Amino acid sequence: MRKITIAANWKMYLDERGSIDFIDKLNADKDLFSNKNIILFPSHACIRSVKDHLDVNVKIGMQDCDIHNKGAYTGSTSINSIDIDSCIVGHSERRIVYKESNDVISEKLRAVLSSDVDPILCIGETLEEKNENLTENVIDSQLSILTNDLKARNLTIAYEPVWAIGSGNVPSNEYINEMLSYIKNRLKSLYSGTDLDNIKLFYGGSVDVSNVDELLNVELIDGFLIGSASANFEKFKDIVKQLKL
Ligand code: PGA
Repeated sequence: MRKITIAANWKMYLDERGSIDFIDKLNADKDLFSNKNIILFPSHACIRSVKDHLDVNVKIGMQDCDIHNKGAYTGSTSINSIDIDSCIVGHSERRIVYKESNDVISEKLRAVLSSDVDPILCIGETLEEKNENLTENVIDSQLSILTNDLKARNLTIAYEPVWAIGSGNVPSNEYINEMLSYIKNRLKSLYSGTDLDNIKLFYGGSVDVSNVDELLNVELIDGFLIGSASANFEKFKDIVKQLKL
């Protein structure tokens, strides 16, 4: 039976006090959280405090990283700056708000892969692209940064339609299944001849307690990348309670 991963992208919702409060509540409910696959993504400035307070076996990740590993890059954060398990690259907020191109995201992916941290690459179409029937082209182009030398690494592709993020508009299971199947087939042709056991597929975009049970019916989903609902402890707990494993 598959074991679903819950990746909690706290974005910039929680400050240090809020992050520690969350961890205190998590620690107080140890039995629920400790046997689950959970990755918490605090903001960079709160990772140290979160790690210091954690008393439950969950993983910690970075929401983004620099393309460089070290040097004169004011205000930026290297993948090597703190010991973590996972790093998100290519989130649509980075692509849209911070104008990160596929080339920049490709360099960030290389930076993550130069460490022993597992990358989560976010992909997905905007509403305009969907309406113009460009979804598959967008996905092809966003996946084109994956090269053959990645095949031995743990890699997660998070399919997050931009129109579903923070909007409450969750696609139907049929739509998600169709898109994840498409992505899986693209990966199969990119990595032909190897099995895809170390590649996971996540769905993200307005996941919360009201829809997670239904979304779990999509068998291709290995995990969820959750934004706002993951930064509220009670909502997060209700989502985790829905997982059978
Ligand atoms: P959301 O965000 O759950 O708030 O829609 C998801 C994401 O941006 O990863």
